[in-house]
Amino acid sequence: MDERPTNDFRRIQTRADIVEIISSYVQLEHKGKNYFGVCPFHDDHSPSMSVSPDKQMYKCFVCNATGNVFTFVENFLGVSFLEAVKIVADRIGETFTVRESKEDVKNKKYYDIMNLATLLYQNNLRTAQGNEAREYLHERGLNDDIIKDFSIGLSLPIPDMLYKLLSSKNISKADMDALGLIGEGNNGTYDLFRNRIMFPLKSPTGKVNGYTARIYHGEDQAKYMNTRETVIFKKGENLYNYHLAAPAARQEKFIVVCEGNMDAIRIYSVGIKNVVATMGTVLTKEQIGLLKKLSVKVIIVMDNDAAGEIATMNCGQALMKENVDIGVVRLTGKKDPDEYILAYGVEAFRDNLRNPLSFPEFMEITLKKNKNLKNPTELTAYINDMIKFISESPDELLIDVTINKLAEEFHLDKDLLRSRVKNKELVTEVKVEESTPENTTKIEKNNNKFTKAFKTMLYYMMNDSDCMRMFLHYQLDLPKCKYRLVSNNLIYYFELNREIDFADYLTFTEDYPAVNEVVKEVIRDISISEFKPEEMESVILVLKEILDKEKIQELKKEISTELDVNRKKRLLEEIIEIKKGCVKNGRD
Ligand code: UTP
Ligand code: MN
Repeated sequence: MDERPTNDFRRIQTRADIVEIISSYVQLEHKGKNYFGVCPFHDDHSPSMSVSPDKQMYKCFVCNATGNVFTFVENFLGVSFLEAVKIVADRIGETFTVRESKEDVKNKKYYDIMNLATLLYQNNLRTAQGNEAREYLHERGLNDDIIKDFSIGLSLPIPDMLYKLLSSKNISKADMDALGLIGEGNNGTYDLFRNRIMFPLKSPTGKVNGYTARIYHGEDQAKYMNTRETVIFKKGENLYNYHLAAPAARQEKFIVVCEGNMDAIRIYSVGIKNVVATMGTVLTKEQIGLLKKLSVKVIIVMDNDAAGEIATMNCGQALMKENVDIGVVRLTGKKDPDEYILAYGVEAFRDNLRNPLSFPEFMEITLKKNKNLKNPTELTAYINDMIKFISESPDELLIDVTINKLAEEFHLDKDLLRSRVKNKELVTEVKVEESTPENTTKIEKNNNKFTKAFKTMLYYMMNDSDCMRMFLHYQLDLPKCKYRLVSNNLIYYFELNREIDFADYLTFTEDYPAVNEVVKEVIRDISISEFKPEEMESVILVLKEILDKEKIQELKKEISTELDVNRKKRLLEEIIEIKKGCVKNGRD
């Protein structure tokens, strides 16, 4: 935008007629000064979008979508702003060349290499050596058209076929390595992908940036092997089949989200092209952004096992926070959409899509499962779970409806439930921090004593309400690390339940995978023979001592470089305060 004369845009914008362009996508009706149509940017049935020829703007009175001819085309077709300008220019016979973004230019070399690799794999599949793999695909019901649509190929059981081909084209080892295509072993450079069916992964704009590679005979290896994170492949920024699904989803006004790439291919191949796969991971912010951008209903159809149920919860919760319209399908009888469609046919599958559960309905059924609601403890747990889930919604009306429903179903005081929702809001802040390698502190990495004490403390906390109370009393200034993730989560649980129940807490953490993992680590590393809750206080003091020492160390370092005498003095006083605290606690 910086180097391009804005004149170009103005010229095209004044020459283009917004009414004419928009009416080629959406039916418009003339009323008074303006034109009206059904807004394509939300689920609408009445004409709530007005288009003004005077202002050359459109505006929707329901979803507030507003903009000019370029933003309309940009959002309607899901293209970039510059691509939209080009489309409009083409329509009115103006010339406008889209300059590629710096990123694209920089990465063009890499995408070219990926294309070469993909061509090699596709060719392999057509040769005699590809017979068995082709048969495998045909047996799974994937015909040659589908194989082509998804650019499916084959890597042969040859150690360095790709490496040799790319070398012969003067492509450097460094570039091949940057793309995750080769490895280095005792016998020299070798191809990372060998003897697998190659499913190219494509960026949201349809460029091959990685592979998921499946074994097709013998079962002694990981079923799928995926490209690692590379210069152009960021797993969390892709959704399998997004580039083909996006236009279809805008047309159909919904998109199907499933787990496996094979499921996406199956669903696509029976004519439901508006489908993407998460490839077995939790939805990232970027992936949610991709779905949200479509402004359509998202129908979640995960595998029908327990993992699929958890994936549905995670996926739904993430989308709910973004106010996305969600439907949930839970298949019965077969493990995943692929097998379901093969067994019962596409019409049965479509039936499911036509009658999805709402996300709150799904959560209600799931959270009630395996609970005896006649038992007060289990009923309380259920209600807490519902409140916890619903209070994450930005939709106040939905929260109110759910509270009323709960209150009526179990004869509870609505105000009590409402205050619980608020209460939750007060404490959410402490639980939503992710542990990443960057925020693992020096302390955690270098100090075994610290880690051991922290884990022991957590173990006591999750087993004993008094230990929990003692922890709250001391208000340790814990450093950011994965263990603090658990202590914050425990505080939150304790706020909700006012008491600790080990088994119940374990179940509770299943909704927080990052926490759950650390909890399991704690359970694994702290043995029962060490369980002496009466020692909670001394463990806290061990931690406090380490933390204080660390803090003093930091302050001393600051003092040595501080030039301002007054500030130096204040830092010194801080050290004295900490030392006093040590003595005091020691005597307590
Ligand atoms: P599934 O085990 O459900 O595979 O894993 P699937 O989709 O049914 O595959 P088929 O039908 O056996 O071919 C779901 C997703 O998890 C990822 C893949 O993306 C897969 O699609 N996965 C699974 C891996 O990355 N590695 C594995 O070893 C297994
Ligand atoms: Mn499958």
